This record gives sequence, structure tokens and C-alpha cells, in this order.
Amino acid sequence: MSEAPERRTRGRTSRSRLRALDAYLVHAERPLLERQDGPWDEAAFLDVGFGEHPWTTLESAEAFRALNPRLRVIGVEADAGRAAAAAPHAAAHTHFRHGGFGWAREAGQPVRLVRAMNILRQYRPEEAAAAHAELGEALLPGGLLVEGSTDGPGGITVAYLLRREAGGLHREALLFHTDFHQGFAPLLFRDWLPVDWRRRLARGSALHAFFEAWTAAWTEARAHGASTPEAGFLQGAQRLAHTCPGVSPEPWLWERGYLRWQPPGGVPRPG
Ligand SMILES: C[S@@+](CC[C@H](N)C(=O)[O-])C[C@H]1O[C@@H](n2cnc3c(N)ncnc32)[C@H](O)[C@@H]1O
Repeated sequence: MSEAPERRTRGRTSRSRLRALDAYLVHAERPLLERQDGPWDEAAFLDVGFGEHPWTTLESAEAFRALNPRLRVIGVEADAGRAAAAAPHAAAHTHFRHGGFGWAREAGQPVRLVRAMNILRQYRPEEAAAAHAELGEALLPGGLLVEGSTDGPGGITVAYLLRREAGGLHREALLFHTDFHQGFAPLLFRDWLPVDWRRRLARGSALHAFFEAWTAAWTEARAHGASTPEAGFLQGAQRLAHTCPGVSPEPWLWERGYLRWQPPGGVPRPG
């Protein structure tokens, strides 16, 4: 992965694409974003692969600084031209750097949160585990790596939440979000699964079983009168939480189109 900065990939991004993720992190990871004791004082939010324009980095900086005004925010890009083009947007605690997944370790920069959204879609599924390990290397204990995909406008999101623990990165959860612009059915998320799962949702796999349970719960909710996409999502999630271990039972999430699946023992690996 250390040669990644040489790899030329598409850089498309759009404003607001990662807003739903920002809102989730502000809600669910407040202590992580706020911490300032010891090494946490210097610990950055790292946005790896911010793309052609640094919009999403700047939007997240604004959202997270509502909790931690001095938060160090660093956008990292493998494409030197994109990193240079972002430089005019640098500010007191906001920086843009040319580099790859290992930038923070190489720079000796402690990190609390790493985001790598819409990056690994352009990689091979077999590269995901090594990419996660490298992306997570500079995280302080308890720090979080968020890696996944969205559709173009950011109305559909699926992301891994991988937590730095003593023994390495724990595959803590999968987070799903939709703004319902395409209606809703659980399999809406299939095309936006992280790259290691996307084409491996084979019958018999743990994730396939999860989607079957979610589809059954959503179908029952609709049969019991949930007539809008939003109601189907919420009431389906409520039913699923009763039958499927690890579905977060938080109404705050369901009411806003989020579902977090945190299976005991961690998110299974494909294959
Ligand atoms: C599709 S853009 C994603 C932009 C933004 N994160 C978003 O979600 O809209 C992918 C970007 O990741 C960058 N990238 C790919 N591999 C990378 C790596 N190993 N390290 C840093 N950036 C990388 C590419 O240069 C590209 O600009």
C-alpha cells in the first residue's frame, strides 16, 4: 500500500456527500471528538483521499469543531495536484498534505479519527484488509477508522466502523444510512457495501443472512401498515433489533435513516 500515492484514481466528490456521516459521528462519537487529555490534544481528524476538491474535509471540520474548536484537521491526497489545489483552503488548524494511507505514521501525527470514504471502491477486494491496517496505524487506542462508500450525492452510505484496540483494529460495526431519495428496501445498500463484501454477498454468508433478516423484518413492518419508506425503515429496524443480535436499538438512529449493526464478535469477513 505504500506505493499508493503513485496510483492515479478518479477524484470525484460533491458538497454535502458526507454530511450524514458527519451528523452520525457528532452524535455517536462525541467523546472521541472532544477529548483533549494527554496525546489527544494533538490528535487529528484525518480525511484520507478527499478528492478533486476539499469540500467534504472543510464541512467535517466545521461540524466537528462545534465540539472541539481546536481540532486538528488534515486532508491527505495521493494525487499531488489535488493536494496542491487544496492548499489555499488551509487555516489555523486545517492542513492539506500529499500522501497515502501511511501518511500519519510517516509524519508521526497521532490520530483520533480517520475517514476514507469512496476510496477503496477503486481497489481490489483483496487489498481491503491491508488498507484498513495501514489506515488505522496512527490511531490512538479507542480511535476510529471509518471506511466505506456512498452514492454520488451522499444519500446512501455504508461504512465500516473499525476501532483501534490493544490487539489491532476491531471490526466493530457496519453503519447504513439513507435519506430515502430512492425509496427504501434493505437491498438498496448492496451496491454500496465496502469493497471486500460488495460482490461476495453469497447465500450462506453472514452478511447475506443479515440482509435476509432485515428484509423479512421490513416486509413484516409493511404488512402491518408501514406505508412510507421512512416508516418501513423505522418499524423494520425495530423488528430487526428484536431478532438480530447487534442491531443498535437507538430510536435517534432509526428516525434519521441510520442503522448500525454491531454483531457480537465483530463484523464478519467475507469468504
Ligand atoms: C472518489 S474520490 C473521494 C473523495 C471524497 N473522499 C468523497 O467521499 O467524496 C477518491 C480519492 O482518493 C484518492 N486516493 C486513492 N488512493 C489513495 C491513497 N492510497 N491515499 C490517499 N488518497 C488516495 C484519489 O486520488 C481520489 O482523489
